[in-house]
Amino acid sequence: MAEVTLKGISKTYPGTRASGPVLAVDNLSLSIADGEFVVLVGPSGCGKTTTLRMVAGLEDVASGEIVIGGRTVNNVHPRDRDIAMVFQNYALYPHMTVRKNMAFALKMRKVPKAEIDRRVEHTARILGLDNLLDRKPRELSGGQRQRVALGRAIVREPKAFLFDEPLSNLDAKLRVSTRAELKALHQRLKTTTIYVTHDQEEAMTLGDRIVVMAGGRIQQEGPPLEVYRRPANRFVASFIGTPPMNFLSGQLADLPSGLIYKEASGVSIPLPDAPAALRASANRPMVMGIRPQGFTLTNSSSGIPLTVNIVEPLGDSLDLSCSTDGGTSIIARIPARSTITPPASGASAHFAIDPSHCHFFEPGDFGARIA
Ligand SMILES: Nc1ncnc2c1ncn2[C@@H]1O[C@H](COP(=O)(O)OP(=O)(O)OP(=O)(O)O)[C@@H](O)[C@H]1O
Ligand SMILES: [Mg+2]
Repeated sequence: MAEVTLKGISKTYPGTRASGPVLAVDNLSLSIADGEFVVLVGPSGCGKTTTLRMVAGLEDVASGEIVIGGRTVNNVHPRDRDIAMVFQNYALYPHMTVRKNMAFALKMRKVPKAEIDRRVEHTARILGLDNLLDRKPRELSGGQRQRVALGRAIVREPKAFLFDEPLSNLDAKLRVSTRAELKALHQRLKTTTIYVTHDQEEAMTLGDRIVVMAGGRIQQEGPPLEVYRRPANRFVASFIGTPPMNFLSGQLADLPSGLIYKEASGVSIPLPDAPAALRASANRPMVMGIRPQGFTLTNSSSGIPLTVNIVEPLGDSLDLSCSTDGGTSIIARIPARSTITPPASGASAHFAIDPSHCHFFEPGDFGARIA
């Protein structure tokens, strides 16, 4: 096992004549501790795969340094970096049995036969593949094939695992169970892992730490709940959490009765418990973010009035697609067991807002967190 450190790495692809060069990864620095499970998460094209491929040595690094287990590996051949990568499109050898697929890399490395058998059988047991060792890939389900691909990486006993969306070929149910298996596996093996996904829920559930990327840069890194509770900017706030955070444009008014957020289209949201530091940002444009989970239906007319356009029952909760009088869209997620009858589509309703689900940002898609 090993610590992996990325020191200001960048990568520019030549691109086409029309597009010009593409800066895929921009001066990215990140330290992954020995045994840690770090998830790189971000939208398509933000540079996740490129970052991983640079660590694996499949892509050269334009500038910066990659250190694995104390050794700078910029010029070390992928084969000699002692890391194992699992891709979304893992190709198993179709003519080989599960056993041979798993043993292949070790055989290439001239590991003694007894040692190969020991590792393959041990790994097959961990992954629940011990009864399938003599089957060929076409005789396996998608989830079993995925586990063979994992097994191939595990038998190598690498210093680190690199995973690039390894679950995206699985159906939703299998994805959730394989995700849990992966987590259990990591708790057992404690191998340093860098895991890439565009799925924020997968990132939240798997990572000791998540690294949110956009435009080739790190937007925020930290334990999942810390990032969820204190998003560093509006991009992170919009990307982490489902349904996505609602955003309002407006400004704060510092009135004798307390702070009030006045949304541009006319909604006023009193903020009795707002931190005093917010005062300094009154009377200038700022964005207010409210998580859908921050809304509750009220019986009184004291809350924020919204028109409910669509009601989506989800079992234990309801998603209400609402709009303000001024036409701003808002999603509220309320518990289905709410004692108040949920409004019908087209009705208007009043909502209270939980201040712990409110966030404030500078204007702009990447506006920094305020207070
Ligand atoms: N071989 C290449 N040549 C030119 N541009 C590339 C190449 N590979 C990737 N890019 C560009 O680099 C940027 C980062 O791509 P990358 O594959 O790292 O994104 P990603 O975060 O893995 O996205 P996804 O979630 O879609 O897999 C994108 O703008 C992409 O179009
Ligand atoms: Mg990718």
